[in-house]
Order: sequence, then structure tokens, then C-alpha cells
Amino acid sequence: MKATATGRFLLVLMACSVHAVTCRTAPKDQTDRLSLLEFKKAISFDPQQALASWNDSTHFCNWEGVMCRTTRHRVTNLALENRGSDCNFNNIEGNIPDEFAKLPGLLVLQISSNQLAGSFPQAILNLSTLGALGITMNHLSGEVPPDLDLSIFDMSNNNFAGVVPRSIGKLRKLYRLNLEVLLLGHNQLSSGFPSGIANLHNLMELGLRGNQFTGEVPEWVGTLKSLQVMNLENNSFTGIIPSPLSNLSQLSYLYLDSNKLEGNLPASIGNLQNLQVCNFSNNLLHGGIPKEMFGIPTLTIIDLSVNNLLGQLPYEVGNAKALIYFSLSSNMPFGDIPNTIGNISSLQALNLSHNNLTGSIPMSLGNLQYLEQLDLSFNNISGNVPKKGIFRNVTAVWIDGNPGLCGGPSELHLLAYHVLPVNPSKQKHSIVQKVVIPLSGIVALAIVITVMVVWWRGRCDGNTSTRSHITMVQRLSIVVDVADALEYLHHSNQGTIVHCDLKPSNILLDDNMTAHVGDFGLARFKFDLAASSFADSISSSVAIKGTIGYIAPECAVGGAVSSAGDVYNFGIVLLEIFLRRRPTDDMFNGGLNITKFVEMNFPDMIPRIIDPELLEEHQDLSQETSLAMKEKSLECLLSVLNIGLLCTKPSPNERICMQEVAARLHEIKKAYPSGS
Ligand SMILES: *[C@@H]1O[C@H](CO)[C@@H](O)[C@H](O)[C@H]1NC(C)=O
Ligand SMILES: *[C@@H]1O[C@H](CO)[C@@H](O)[C@H](O)[C@H]1NC(C)=O
Ligand SMILES: *[C@@H]1O[C@H](CO)[C@@H](O)[C@H](O)[C@H]1NC(C)=O
Ligand SMILES: *[C@@H]1O[C@H](CO)[C@@H](O)[C@H](O)[C@H]1NC(C)=O
Ligand SMILES: *[C@@H]1O[C@H](CO)[C@@H](O)[C@H](O)[C@H]1NC(C)=O
Ligand SMILES: *[C@@H]1O[C@H](CO)[C@@H](O)[C@H](O)[C@H]1NC(C)=O
Ligand SMILES: *[C@@H]1O[C@H](CO)[C@@H](O)[C@H](O)[C@H]1NC(C)=O
Ligand SMILES: *[C@@H]1O[C@H](CO)[C@@H](O)[C@H](O)[C@H]1NC(C)=O
Ligand SMILES: *[C@@H]1O[C@H](CO)[C@@H](O)[C@H](O)[C@H]1NC(C)=O
Ligand SMILES: *[C@@H]1O[C@H](CO)[C@@H](O)[C@H](O)[C@H]1NC(C)=O
Repeated sequence: MKATATGRFLLVLMACSVHAVTCRTAPKDQTDRLSLLEFKKAISFDPQQALASWNDSTHFCNWEGVMCRTTRHRVTNLALENRGSDCNFNNIEGNIPDEFAKLPGLLVLQISSNQLAGSFPQAILNLSTLGALGITMNHLSGEVPPDLDLSIFDMSNNNFAGVVPRSIGKLRKLYRLNLEVLLLGHNQLSSGFPSGIANLHNLMELGLRGNQFTGEVPEWVGTLKSLQVMNLENNSFTGIIPSPLSNLSQLSYLYLDSNKLEGNLPASIGNLQNLQVCNFSNNLLHGGIPKEMFGIPTLTIIDLSVNNLLGQLPYEVGNAKALIYFSLSSNMPFGDIPNTIGNISSLQALNLSHNNLTGSIPMSLGNLQYLEQLDLSFNNISGNVPKKGIFRNVTAVWIDGNPGLCGGPSELHLLAYHVLPVNPSKQKHSIVQKVVIPLSGIVALAIVITVMVVWWRGRCDGNTSTRSHITMVQRLSIVVDVADALEYLHHSNQGTIVHCDLKPSNILLDDNMTAHVGDFGLARFKFDLAASSFADSISSSVAIKGTIGYIAPECAVGGAVSSAGDVYNFGIVLLEIFLRRRPTDDMFNGGLNITKFVEMNFPDMIPRIIDPELLEEHQDLSQETSLAMKEKSLECLLSVLNIGLLCTKPSPNERICMQEVAARLHEIKKAYPSGS
């Protein structure tokens, strides 16, 4: 009965195109309106009031989400997706009634990202004009409609089940559309690779991911000449990667990951000269890595991880000039890492972990100026860990699990770290990154230096009205917080790790550390403040000069490394905070450094050398508080600077330990007049 009704409307539409004048009357107008009202009637919950305007006070062509062809008052588009406040969803709940399918002029129906459930009325697909249908991210169920005479059909992320009908893409309609985009991902579809797809010669995007498809990927996929995106990931496809796949000259995105594919990676893959992203991860692929792959000029992401590939990593890997991400992790032994890896100039992430790789860490890695993450862990790499310089811009390195790698036991652990990049654009991702053991006190110091640079910049760039004004109390809080963090690092059970190449961009955080630094106001300070202006300066001379200024003497000359080096760094930072003078200040040359400068002026001349802003604060204080209080605050300042001096003794043996530093600073903070 519904079918006949639809048939009648098809006839009406055809009649309209011939007798346009007679057709422009009320009844048709009513048809579209009533059809929309049927849709509204079936909506049980509309939290965003998306359909509030669907009432008699306005013509239906002005209703929210409705677009009409103005001359005929025919609904051509209905778009009810992605509206709303917080989560960008309409979240209308309800069903789609069969009666809704009476919109003979409908071209586009977009009702994605709602809470629509029940079955999808097949009659909608019979609307002869319909060209694009988006119903993704709902709870719709049933089977995939047999006739998809559309150009775009996205029914992914629903509960459709069963077998994709053979007739998919059968052409019946007036306008002979042919599917260009077919997205069936994240449903419960099963059985073999849908054979009906073989007819879809205009198909540009095919999404089958996250279903229960089985069987082989047919050779005929190589005939889908328009294909640009093919996503088969997370199914149970078996067999080999068919070599005719390489006939898809337009293919840009190829996801075959998380299946049960075996056999070799075909060398003909190198024919895919437009390929940008390929993910073969988590299959059973074996054999070698075809060198041809690295000749693809557009390739930016290659993920071959978790397979059984083996052999030599081809030296041609260096030809993949556009490569940004390369993972070969968790395969079979691969021999040495070719030096040409340093030719992949755009590389940002390299994961070669768990491969029994041999040889040494190629020095050419130092050429990769964009490299941020390097995972060489669990291999058989030997030789020395390259000293500073090589990993200049690298923000995360894993080299643990290489028993033959040397560079001193603490240094070995030292590089088994995970550093958070101070990079605003990547901030979101980096904060949640997982961490490897153990930590260095450099973490906290780097945070402070970050803060300092921001602060100094603010002072230099800003005008007086916006200039940052950091009070004594705040400054005390910073040093107390950092001392706590360092104390934790040095005296907890994690073992003491120190680092001689202090680098502001190296902010280390570890799972445990997060707990300690999380409510350590400074950490937030760093992420909010630092992100804004600091990132640019990481590689600038400011930061590098800074590094030189903070380094402990024994570290600078390559002597024995100990936690006393961190204590020294801390002391310098402390002095800097209260003097507001960088250790690299031009005045510090010849024999004079920031420590000697404080020593020389201690205690009587201190009011002359500290940050004048603190002095002003001091003056303010004197207006309303007693002389005793003023005395007290000067006393606190002297005690703090004295700690700085005790931390920066030239000989590591003379320096006090972090436990003592933290304890003393806490006392001072408590005693400070306006402190709490
Ligand atoms: C009817 O729709 C108009 C907008 O077209 C809206 O301003 C009005 O509030 C709606 N009436 C009801 C009762 O929702
Ligand atoms: C769609 O149209 C075809 C042919 O016009 C008809 O056989 C079929 O029953 C219709 N399907 C629905 C669900 O209306
Ligand atoms: C893989 O697909 C299954 C459904 O078949 C789904 O439950 C799972 O979350 C998917 N995994 C990923 C990583 O997408
Ligand atoms: C498709 O690929 C196969 C094997 O890779 C090849 O023999 C065949 O000639 C190709 N066909 C076309 C039309 O390019
Ligand atoms: C490749 O696929 C695997 C498994 O599905 C996934 O974990 C990984 O993140 C993907 N790689 C990239 C670079 O997206
Ligand atoms: C490298 O790949 C493995 C999967 O084989 C993964 O567990 C590890 O986290 C990856 N390393 C990085 C730095 O992402
Ligand atoms: C690495 O090599 C050792 C010794 O040759 C072997 O026992 C081990 O299974 C290899 N591991 C892998 C992942 O191939
Ligand atoms: C590639 O790397 C090798 C070894 O590091 C080097 O000798 C060669 O000049 C590089 N080639 C190009 C084109 O950069
Ligand atoms: C670090 O990366 C920046 C670009 O982000 C680049 O300009 C700079 O040269 C790199 N530094 C080094 C030492 O490679
Ligand atoms: C590591 O490599 C050395 C040669 O460099 C070899 O003798 C040793 O067996 C390898 N160890 C493993 C576990 O593969």
C-alpha cells in the first residue's frame, strides 16, 4: 500500500515536469508539509528544540533544517544534524515513520548524529530525486537496503546487520545516479566482501570498517578505478593483499589494519603514486618490506606494526621524503637501521620498537629536525647513546630494552624517558601521553625555566599596564613547589636520575609524577602560559643560552653525574627568580656569575640587587605594616637566597640535598608575613 502511494508520487513528479503550471497548487504543498509533520510526530524527545519552528505559524519551507526549491515549494533538503550547544548533536530521539517518505523533490537527507532508532524506511530510497543520504551515528537497525540509487550513502555507526545485498548499486532511477561514497562502517554486517560493490565503478570512498566481514579481499577491487579511500580495517578479512589493488591509481587512503591478512606486501604497491596514508598494522603479513613503497612521493603515514615482516629495512626508506609517521614496531628481526633514515626530512614519529634491530643508533637521525617521537625500545641495538645534539628537537625517546646500548647506566635510563613537548598545537595529545621510567629532576626545572622565559618575555614585550607582577608570595610558592617535585624525584623510590643537558623543551612527566605535579599549580601554569609564547623560543638562542647558564660545573666538564647537578640547577633558578636576572645576563662574564654576585652582596647589599619589583612591594608593605613585619620579610628573602647559595656550591659534595631544601623553604613560606 505504501509502495503504491510512493509510486503515485513518482508519477506526480513526472507529471510536474511536463505540466508545471497545473501542478503548482495546494495539495502538493500539503504533501510535503504533512510528510514533515509525520516526521515530527515520530520524534519522542527533542532536547535542543530543533523542531520547535515546525509549526503552523510559518510556512514549512522556513522550518529549521528545511530547504525548498522556491518555485515549487518542494522540500529539497532536510538537514537536522550537527546542531546544538555542547556536544554538537541535536539528539532528537524517535523513529523515522514510513509516511515520511513522501517528499518527491528531496535531494539531500541528512539526519546524522541523532538518537533515531528502529528501522529505516526503505521507501525513502525510492524517492527518485534523492542523491545523498546521511544517517550515520544513530541507532537504526535492519538490513542494508537493496537498492542504493544514490551518489552518497553514509549509514555507518548504526546497528545494521546481515549481509549486504548483491543488488547494491543497481541502477533503476530516472537520473541514473551511481554511488560515489558508500560508508557502511561500524555496524554488524557480516559475510564476505560485498560482491555488489563490483558494479560501483564511480565509487570514490568505500568504508567497511568495524564490521564482521570475512573471506578474501577480491581481486576485482582493482577495477574500482575511481577509489580514493578504502577502509577495511577491523574486520576478519583473510588471504593475501590482492595485487590488482595496485591498479587503483587514485587511491590516497588505504586502511587494511586489524584483519587477518597474510602473505607478502606486494611490491606493486609502489604503483599507488597518490597514496598518502596506509595502515597494514595488526595482520599476519610476512616477507620483506618492498623498497618500492618508499618511492611513493605522497606517502605521509606508513603503519606496518604488529605483523611478521622481516629482512632488512630497505635503504630506500630515505626516499620517502613526505613521510611524517613510520611504524614498523613488533615485527621480526630487521638487521641494522639504514643511515638513510636521516634523509626523511619531514619525519615526526618513528617507531622501530620490538624488532631485534641490530647495529648502532644512526647519527643521521640528528638530521631530522622535525622528529618528535623516537621509539627504538626492545631491540638489539648496541654502541653508545648519542650525546646531546642529536635529539635536539626530539621530545620523546624510548631506548629501553637494548641490553647492548651503553652510555653509563644512569644515562641509559635517562633516555628511557618520555618528554612532553611544549607545543601548543600538540598540547592536547601530549598531556595524555603514557610514560616510561624513571624521571629526572629536569622536569620541574624545565617547568620553571619555561615560566621564567614567559615571564621575562612578558617583561620585555609588554607595556607597563599588562606587565606581569609576580609577588614575593608567588615566587616563594614556585620555588617551594619545584623543591617538592625535586625532592620527590630524588628521594622517592624511583632512583635518582639526573641530566646534564638541561633543555626547557624537555618537560618530563610520568604517571606517578602527574599525581605529584598535577595539583602543583605550576604544572598548569606551564601548560597555559608556556603554550602561548614559549614554544617559538625553544630552539632559539634564548633557551640554549639559558641551558648553559643553569648547568652545574661538573656536568659542563663531563664529570660524574649526580642529583647534586639538579640541586645546582635548582639553586640557579631560585636566584634568578628573586633577582629577576638571567644567569646568562651580559654582566655575568669573566669570573662573575650569578652565584658569586649574590655571595658578594650577601647579606647587607641584597636589597640593592634583588628584583626592584620586590622592593616596591616591600615599600608598600611598610606603609601599612609594622617595621617588625618588614624586617621579617627581609629575613625571609635572605634565607631564601641563602638556600640558593647552598645549592650552587661549586663542589657537588658541599651542596645541600633536596630534602633539606624543601624542608627549609616550607618553613620560610610559613613564616613569611603575608604568606599563609
Ligand atoms: C513556532 O515557530 C516559530 C518560528 O518559526 C517560533 O518562534 C514559535 O515559538 C513556534 N511556536 C511554538 C508554539 O513552538
Ligand atoms: C521501491 O520502488 C520499487 C519499484 O518502483 C518497488 O518495487 C518497491 O516496492 C519500492 N520499495 C518501497 C519500500 O517502497
Ligand atoms: C572493531 O570492531 C568492533 C565491532 O566489530 C568494535 O566493537 C571495536 O570497538 C572495533 N575496534 C576498533 C579499534 O575500532
Ligand atoms: C591490474 O593489475 C594486474 C596485476 O597487478 C595487472 O596484471 C593488470 O594489467 C592491471 N589491469 C589494469 C587494467 O591496469
Ligand atoms: C593503524 O591501525 C592500528 C590498528 O587498527 C591502530 O592502532 C593504529 O593507530 C593505526 N595507525 C595509525 C598511524 O593511524
Ligand atoms: C610503538 O608501537 C608499539 C606497538 O607495536 C606501541 O605499543 C608503542 O606505544 C609505540 N610507541 C610509540 C612511541 O608510540
Ligand atoms: C630476537 O632474537 C633472539 C635471539 O636471536 C630470539 O631469541 C628472539 O626470539 C628474537 N625476537 C624476535 C621478536 O624476533
Ligand atoms: C641519504 O643519506 C645518505 C646516508 O646518510 C647520504 O649519504 C645521502 O647523501 C642522502 N641522500 C640524499 C638525497 O639526501
Ligand atoms: C627544530 O625544529 C624547528 C621547526 O619546528 C626548526 O626550525 C629547527 O631548525 C629545529 N632545530 C634543530 C636543532 O633541528
Ligand atoms: C644481539 O646482537 C649481537 C651481535 O651484535 C648478537 O651476538 C646477539 O646474539 C644478539 N642478541 C639477540 C638477543 O638477538
